Amino acid sequence: MSTIFSGIQPSGTLTIGNYLGAMQQFVKLQEENHCYFCIVDEHAITVPQDRLKLRQNIRSLAALYLAAGIDPNKSTLFIQSEVSAHAELAWIMQSISYIGELERMTQFKDKAVGKEAVSVALLTYPPLMAADILLYNTNLVPVGEDQKQHLELTRNLAQRFNNKYNDIFTIPEISVPKVGARIMSLQEPTKKMSKSDSNEKAFISMLDEPKKIEKKIKSAVTDSEGIVKFDKENKPGISNLLTILASCTGESIEKLEENYAGKGYGEFKQDVAQAVIQVLAPIQDRYDALIEAEELDTILDDGADRAALIANKTLAKAKKATGLGRKR
Ligand code: TYM
Repeated sequence: MSTIFSGIQPSGTLTIGNYLGAMQQFVKLQEENHCYFCIVDEHAITVPQDRLKLRQNIRSLAALYLAAGIDPNKSTLFIQSEVSAHAELAWIMQSISYIGELERMTQFKDKAVGKEAVSVALLTYPPLMAADILLYNTNLVPVGEDQKQHLELTRNLAQRFNNKYNDIFTIPEISVPKVGARIMSLQEPTKKMSKSDSNEKAFISMLDEPKKIEKKIKSAVTDSEGIVKFDKENKPGISNLLTILASCTGESIEKLEENYAGKGYGEFKQDVAQAVIQVLAPIQDRYDALIEAEELDTILDDGADRAALIANKTLAKAKKATGLGRKR
Protein backbone atom coordinates (compact mmCIF):
# COMPACT_ATOMS: atom_id res chain seq x y z
CA MET A 1 0.00 0.00 0.00
CA SER A 2 1.40 3.37 -1.06
CA THR A 3 0.59 6.88 0.10
CA ILE A 4 -0.82 8.98 -2.73
CA PHE A 5 -1.21 12.76 -2.84
CA SER A 6 -2.58 14.96 -5.58
CA GLY A 7 -4.19 18.37 -5.90
CA ILE A 8 -6.40 20.34 -8.27
CA GLN A 9 -6.79 24.11 -8.39
CA PRO A 10 -10.29 25.54 -7.84
CA SER A 11 -9.84 28.01 -10.66
CA GLY A 12 -12.93 27.31 -12.77
CA THR A 13 -14.95 24.27 -13.70
CA LEU A 14 -12.71 21.32 -14.52
CA THR A 15 -12.29 20.14 -18.09
CA ILE A 16 -12.26 16.57 -19.37
CA GLY A 17 -8.48 17.11 -19.50
CA ASN A 18 -8.41 17.35 -15.70
CA TYR A 19 -10.71 14.35 -15.47
CA LEU A 20 -8.95 12.03 -17.92
CA GLY A 21 -5.44 13.15 -16.97
CA ALA A 22 -5.89 13.15 -13.21
CA MET A 23 -9.22 12.51 -11.48
CA GLN A 24 -9.97 9.26 -13.27
CA GLN A 25 -6.68 7.82 -11.94
CA PHE A 26 -7.45 9.07 -8.41
CA VAL A 27 -10.66 7.05 -8.28
CA LYS A 28 -8.84 3.85 -9.23
CA LEU A 29 -5.89 4.46 -6.92
CA GLN A 30 -8.02 4.91 -3.80
CA GLU A 31 -8.98 1.21 -3.85
CA GLU A 32 -5.56 -0.04 -2.86
CA ASN A 33 -3.74 2.95 -1.40
CA HIS A 34 -3.76 5.53 1.30
CA CYS A 35 -4.93 8.65 -0.57
CA TYR A 36 -4.99 12.40 0.05
CA PHE A 37 -6.80 14.60 -2.46
CA CYS A 38 -6.58 18.33 -2.05
CA ILE A 39 -8.37 21.44 -3.27
CA VAL A 40 -5.35 23.70 -3.64
CA ASP A 41 -6.93 27.12 -3.09
CA GLU A 42 -3.63 28.72 -2.04
CA HIS A 43 -2.23 27.85 -5.45
CA ALA A 44 -5.28 29.45 -7.09
CA ILE A 45 -4.55 32.87 -5.59
CA THR A 46 -1.14 33.07 -7.28
CA VAL A 47 -3.14 34.77 -10.06
CA PRO A 48 -5.98 37.26 -9.40
CA GLN A 49 -9.28 35.68 -8.29
CA ASP A 50 -12.70 37.08 -7.52
CA ARG A 51 -13.28 36.14 -3.86
CA LEU A 52 -16.90 35.05 -4.22
CA LYS A 53 -16.16 33.06 -7.36
CA LEU A 54 -13.21 31.39 -5.64
CA ARG A 55 -15.44 30.32 -2.73
CA GLN A 56 -17.92 28.87 -5.23
CA ASN A 57 -15.19 27.10 -7.17
CA ILE A 58 -13.80 25.51 -4.00
CA ARG A 59 -17.19 24.03 -3.10
CA SER A 60 -17.85 23.02 -6.66
CA LEU A 61 -14.51 21.20 -6.88
CA ALA A 62 -15.21 19.35 -3.63
CA ALA A 63 -18.56 18.21 -5.03
CA LEU A 64 -16.91 17.17 -8.31
CA TYR A 65 -14.27 15.07 -6.56
CA LEU A 66 -17.03 13.17 -4.74
CA ALA A 67 -19.29 12.98 -7.80
CA ALA A 68 -16.42 11.52 -9.83
CA GLY A 69 -16.08 8.73 -7.28
CA ILE A 70 -13.73 9.86 -4.53
CA ASP A 71 -15.02 8.01 -1.48
CA PRO A 72 -14.44 9.88 1.82
CA ASN A 73 -14.28 6.55 3.64
CA LYS A 74 -11.32 5.52 1.53
CA SER A 75 -9.62 8.85 0.79
CA THR A 76 -8.95 12.06 2.69
CA LEU A 77 -10.46 15.03 0.82
CA PHE A 78 -9.61 18.48 2.12
CA ILE A 79 -8.98 22.15 1.37
CA GLN A 80 -5.32 23.24 1.39
CA SER A 81 -5.85 26.55 3.24
CA GLU A 82 -7.63 24.69 6.06
CA VAL A 83 -4.44 22.84 6.96
CA SER A 84 -1.97 25.58 7.85
CA ALA A 85 1.03 23.24 7.75
CA HIS A 86 1.01 23.61 3.93
CA ALA A 87 1.83 27.33 3.99
CA GLU A 88 4.32 26.83 6.83
CA LEU A 89 6.29 24.06 5.17
CA ALA A 90 6.14 26.01 1.90
CA TRP A 91 8.14 28.77 3.60
CA ILE A 92 10.81 26.31 4.65
CA MET A 93 10.89 24.85 1.11
CA GLN A 94 11.28 28.37 -0.30
CA SER A 95 14.34 28.87 1.89
CA ILE A 96 16.11 26.03 0.05
CA SER A 97 14.79 26.94 -3.45
CA TYR A 98 16.81 29.08 -5.86
CA ILE A 99 15.24 31.94 -7.78
CA GLY A 100 16.93 30.70 -10.97
CA GLU A 101 15.40 27.23 -10.84
CA LEU A 102 11.94 28.66 -10.15
CA GLU A 103 12.26 31.11 -13.04
CA ARG A 104 13.03 28.17 -15.33
CA MET A 105 9.66 26.48 -14.70
CA THR A 106 7.73 26.52 -17.99
CA GLN A 107 4.39 27.03 -16.23
CA PHE A 108 5.78 30.17 -14.55
CA LYS A 109 7.12 31.45 -17.87
CA ASP A 110 3.79 30.74 -19.63
CA LYS A 111 1.70 32.42 -16.94
CA ALA A 112 4.04 35.42 -16.54
CA VAL A 113 4.54 36.21 -20.21
CA GLY A 114 3.14 39.56 -21.28
CA LYS A 115 1.86 40.42 -17.77
CA GLU A 116 2.67 43.81 -16.34
CA ALA A 117 2.58 42.66 -12.72
CA VAL A 118 3.38 39.08 -11.68
CA SER A 119 2.92 38.01 -8.05
CA VAL A 120 5.85 36.61 -6.08
CA ALA A 121 3.57 33.67 -5.26
CA LEU A 122 3.45 32.70 -8.95
CA LEU A 123 7.22 32.25 -8.77
CA THR A 124 7.14 30.39 -5.44
CA TYR A 125 4.23 28.18 -6.51
CA PRO A 126 6.42 25.02 -6.86
CA PRO A 127 7.83 25.08 -3.29
CA LEU A 128 4.21 25.18 -2.04
CA MET A 129 3.44 22.22 -4.26
CA ALA A 130 6.49 20.42 -2.84
CA ALA A 131 5.20 21.14 0.68
CA ASP A 132 1.77 19.69 -0.22
CA ILE A 133 3.32 16.44 -1.30
CA LEU A 134 6.10 16.07 1.28
CA LEU A 135 3.86 16.66 4.32
CA TYR A 136 2.19 13.27 3.83
CA ASN A 137 5.26 11.06 3.23
CA THR A 138 3.86 10.57 -0.26
CA ASN A 139 5.20 7.71 -2.40
CA LEU A 140 3.28 8.46 -5.59
CA VAL A 141 1.78 11.58 -7.19
CA PRO A 142 -0.72 11.00 -10.02
CA VAL A 143 -0.79 14.02 -12.36
CA GLY A 144 -1.12 14.99 -16.02
CA GLU A 145 1.98 15.59 -18.10
CA ASP A 146 2.06 19.37 -17.52
CA GLN A 147 2.98 18.83 -13.85
CA LYS A 148 6.04 16.65 -14.54
CA GLN A 149 8.52 19.52 -14.24
CA HIS A 150 7.05 20.60 -10.88
CA LEU A 151 7.31 17.03 -9.65
CA GLU A 152 10.97 16.79 -10.68
CA LEU A 153 11.61 19.97 -8.70
CA THR A 154 9.74 18.52 -5.70
CA ARG A 155 12.05 15.50 -5.78
CA ASN A 156 15.10 17.76 -6.00
CA LEU A 157 13.95 19.93 -3.10
CA ALA A 158 13.20 16.89 -0.94
CA GLN A 159 16.63 15.46 -1.66
CA ARG A 160 18.28 18.83 -1.04
CA PHE A 161 16.54 19.17 2.33
CA ASN A 162 17.41 15.62 3.36
CA ASN A 163 21.09 16.18 2.49
CA LYS A 164 21.34 19.58 4.13
CA TYR A 165 19.43 18.89 7.36
CA ASN A 166 18.10 15.47 8.14
CA ASP A 167 16.68 12.58 6.19
CA ILE A 168 12.99 13.18 6.89
CA PHE A 169 11.26 13.43 3.50
CA THR A 170 10.14 10.52 1.35
CA ILE A 171 11.13 11.08 -2.30
CA PRO A 172 7.90 10.79 -4.30
CA GLU A 173 7.47 9.02 -7.64
CA ILE A 174 5.45 10.55 -10.48
CA SER A 175 2.56 8.70 -12.09
CA VAL A 176 1.30 9.91 -15.48
CA PRO A 177 -1.40 7.93 -17.33
CA LYS A 178 -0.29 6.09 -20.50
CA VAL A 179 -3.21 7.54 -22.47
CA GLY A 180 -4.79 10.90 -21.65
CA ALA A 181 -1.86 12.58 -19.85
CA ARG A 182 -2.17 15.58 -22.15
CA ILE A 183 -5.61 16.27 -23.61
CA MET A 184 -5.34 19.01 -26.21
CA SER A 185 -7.51 22.00 -27.10
CA LEU A 186 -10.36 21.13 -29.48
CA GLN A 187 -9.70 24.31 -31.47
CA GLU A 188 -5.88 24.37 -31.45
CA PRO A 189 -4.90 20.74 -30.94
CA THR A 190 -1.21 21.55 -30.58
CA LYS A 191 -2.04 23.43 -27.36
CA LYS A 192 -3.06 21.87 -24.01
CA MET A 193 -6.78 21.89 -23.16
CA SER A 194 -7.16 24.41 -20.36
CA LYS A 195 -10.04 25.57 -18.17
CA SER A 196 -8.83 29.15 -18.52
CA ASP A 197 -8.94 29.20 -22.35
CA SER A 198 -10.79 32.31 -23.56
CA ASN A 199 -12.40 30.29 -26.37
CA GLU A 200 -15.14 28.19 -24.80
CA LYS A 201 -15.21 25.87 -27.81
CA ALA A 202 -11.64 24.79 -27.04
CA PHE A 203 -12.55 22.75 -23.96
CA ILE A 204 -15.28 20.51 -22.59
CA SER A 205 -16.18 21.33 -19.03
CA MET A 206 -17.14 18.44 -16.75
CA LEU A 207 -20.49 20.18 -16.26
CA ASP A 208 -21.29 20.85 -19.94
CA GLU A 209 -24.73 19.65 -21.05
CA PRO A 210 -24.86 16.81 -23.60
CA LYS A 211 -25.98 19.17 -26.40
CA LYS A 212 -23.04 21.47 -25.75
CA ILE A 213 -20.62 18.54 -25.72
CA GLU A 214 -21.94 17.32 -29.09
CA LYS A 215 -21.60 20.79 -30.56
CA LYS A 216 -18.07 21.32 -29.31
CA ILE A 217 -16.86 17.94 -30.57
CA LYS A 218 -18.59 18.46 -33.91
CA SER A 219 -16.71 21.73 -34.36
CA ALA A 220 -13.37 20.30 -33.16
CA VAL A 221 -10.55 21.06 -35.60
CA THR A 222 -9.41 18.01 -37.62
CA ASP A 223 -7.84 17.70 -41.09
CA SER A 224 -8.99 17.02 -44.64
CA GLU A 225 -7.52 13.51 -44.99
CA GLY A 226 -10.63 11.67 -43.81
CA ILE A 227 -8.69 8.81 -42.15
CA VAL A 228 -9.06 8.06 -38.43
CA LYS A 229 -5.43 7.39 -37.51
CA PHE A 230 -3.21 8.33 -34.58
CA ASP A 231 -0.46 10.63 -35.84
CA LYS A 232 0.28 13.40 -33.36
CA GLU A 233 2.58 15.33 -35.70
CA ASN A 234 0.45 15.40 -38.84
CA LYS A 235 -3.06 14.79 -37.43
CA PRO A 236 -3.12 16.44 -33.98
CA GLY A 237 -6.90 16.98 -33.98
CA ILE A 238 -7.86 13.40 -34.82
CA SER A 239 -5.14 12.05 -32.50
CA ASN A 240 -6.59 14.09 -29.64
CA LEU A 241 -10.13 12.84 -30.31
CA LEU A 242 -8.80 9.25 -30.47
CA THR A 243 -7.10 9.79 -27.11
CA ILE A 244 -10.32 11.14 -25.60
CA LEU A 245 -12.32 8.19 -26.96
CA ALA A 246 -9.73 5.68 -25.74
CA SER A 247 -9.63 7.24 -22.25
CA CYS A 248 -13.43 7.33 -21.98
CA THR A 249 -14.04 3.78 -23.18
CA GLY A 250 -10.90 1.95 -22.05
CA GLU A 251 -10.35 0.73 -25.65
CA SER A 252 -6.84 0.82 -27.11
CA ILE A 253 -6.01 3.40 -29.79
CA GLU A 254 -5.07 0.56 -32.21
CA LYS A 255 -8.46 -1.13 -31.76
CA LEU A 256 -10.24 2.17 -32.34
CA GLU A 257 -8.23 2.81 -35.52
CA GLU A 258 -9.38 -0.61 -36.77
CA ASN A 259 -13.01 0.10 -35.86
CA TYR A 260 -13.03 3.33 -37.85
CA ALA A 261 -11.15 2.09 -40.91
CA GLY A 262 -13.07 3.28 -43.98
CA LYS A 263 -15.45 5.41 -41.90
CA GLY A 264 -15.65 9.20 -42.01
CA TYR A 265 -15.04 11.82 -39.36
CA GLY A 266 -18.79 12.48 -38.89
CA GLU A 267 -19.52 9.07 -37.38
CA PHE A 268 -16.26 9.10 -35.41
CA LYS A 269 -17.02 12.49 -33.85
CA GLN A 270 -20.55 11.37 -33.01
CA ASP A 271 -19.11 8.38 -31.09
CA VAL A 272 -16.53 10.52 -29.29
CA ALA A 273 -19.32 12.87 -28.16
CA GLN A 274 -21.46 9.95 -26.93
CA ALA A 275 -18.54 8.41 -25.04
CA VAL A 276 -17.80 11.71 -23.27
CA ILE A 277 -21.49 12.19 -22.43
CA GLN A 278 -21.68 8.67 -21.02
CA VAL A 279 -18.74 9.32 -18.72
CA LEU A 280 -19.93 12.75 -17.59
CA ALA A 281 -23.71 12.26 -17.24
CA PRO A 282 -23.63 10.16 -14.03
CA ILE A 283 -21.00 12.48 -12.54
CA GLN A 284 -23.23 15.49 -13.29
CA ASP A 285 -26.25 13.81 -11.65
CA ARG A 286 -24.31 13.13 -8.47
CA TYR A 287 -22.83 16.63 -8.56
CA ASP A 288 -26.29 18.22 -8.60
CA ALA A 289 -27.26 16.25 -5.50
CA LEU A 290 -24.05 17.10 -3.64
CA ILE A 291 -23.44 20.76 -4.30
CA GLU A 292 -25.98 22.06 -1.75
CA ALA A 293 -25.69 19.13 0.67
CA GLU A 294 -24.53 19.73 4.25
CA GLU A 295 -22.73 16.39 4.02
CA LEU A 296 -20.13 18.15 1.89
CA ASP A 297 -19.08 20.34 4.82
CA THR A 298 -18.85 17.39 7.18
CA ILE A 299 -16.62 15.55 4.72
CA LEU A 300 -14.33 18.56 4.28
CA ASP A 301 -14.13 19.22 8.07
CA ASP A 302 -13.27 15.62 8.70
CA GLY A 303 -10.75 15.61 5.83
CA ALA A 304 -8.97 18.70 7.18
CA ASP A 305 -8.73 17.13 10.66
CA ARG A 306 -7.34 13.88 9.30
CA ALA A 307 -4.86 15.65 7.02
CA ALA A 308 -3.66 18.01 9.79
CA LEU A 309 -2.82 15.08 12.04
CA ILE A 310 -0.15 13.79 9.64
CA ALA A 311 0.85 17.17 8.22
CA ASN A 312 1.59 18.69 11.64
CA LYS A 313 3.82 15.76 12.56
CA THR A 314 5.94 16.19 9.43
CA LEU A 315 6.02 19.96 9.88
CA ALA A 316 7.29 19.55 13.46
CA LYS A 317 10.09 17.28 12.18
CA ALA A 318 11.01 19.76 9.44
CA LYS A 319 11.10 22.67 11.90
CA LYS A 320 13.29 20.71 14.28
CA ALA A 321 15.65 19.64 11.49
CA THR A 322 15.95 23.25 10.32
CA GLY A 323 16.59 24.60 13.83
CA LEU A 324 13.47 26.74 14.05
CA GLY A 325 11.92 27.58 17.44
CA ARG A 326 13.06 26.16 20.76
CA LYS A 327 14.12 22.72 21.98
CA ARG A 328 11.15 20.95 23.64
P1 TYM B 1 -4.33 21.84 -12.27
O1 TYM B 1 -5.36 22.33 -11.33
O2 TYM B 1 -3.92 22.73 -13.39
O3 TYM B 1 -4.78 20.49 -12.90
C1 TYM B 1 -5.21 19.39 -12.12
C2 TYM B 1 -4.74 18.07 -12.72
O4 TYM B 1 -5.22 17.95 -14.07
C3 TYM B 1 -4.13 17.68 -14.96
N1 TYM B 1 -4.42 18.32 -16.26
C4 TYM B 1 -4.46 17.67 -17.43
N2 TYM B 1 -4.29 16.38 -17.74
C5 TYM B 1 -4.42 16.03 -19.06
N3 TYM B 1 -4.72 16.92 -20.04
C6 TYM B 1 -4.90 18.23 -19.76
N4 TYM B 1 -5.20 19.08 -20.73
C7 TYM B 1 -4.79 18.66 -18.40
N5 TYM B 1 -4.92 19.86 -17.78
C8 TYM B 1 -4.68 19.63 -16.47
C9 TYM B 1 -2.92 18.30 -14.28
O5 TYM B 1 -1.72 17.73 -14.74
C10 TYM B 1 -3.20 18.00 -12.82
O6 TYM B 1 -2.79 16.68 -12.50
N6 TYM B 1 -0.07 22.50 -9.72
C11 TYM B 1 -1.20 21.62 -9.89
C12 TYM B 1 -2.01 21.45 -8.61
C13 TYM B 1 -1.23 20.96 -7.44
C14 TYM B 1 -0.73 19.65 -7.22
C15 TYM B 1 -0.11 19.68 -5.95
C16 TYM B 1 -0.76 18.47 -8.00
C17 TYM B 1 -0.89 21.70 -6.34
N7 TYM B 1 -0.22 20.92 -5.45
C18 TYM B 1 0.50 18.52 -5.43
C19 TYM B 1 -0.15 17.34 -7.46
C20 TYM B 1 0.47 17.37 -6.20
C21 TYM B 1 -2.14 22.22 -10.94
O7 TYM B 1 -2.12 23.40 -11.21
O8 TYM B 1 -3.04 21.38 -11.46
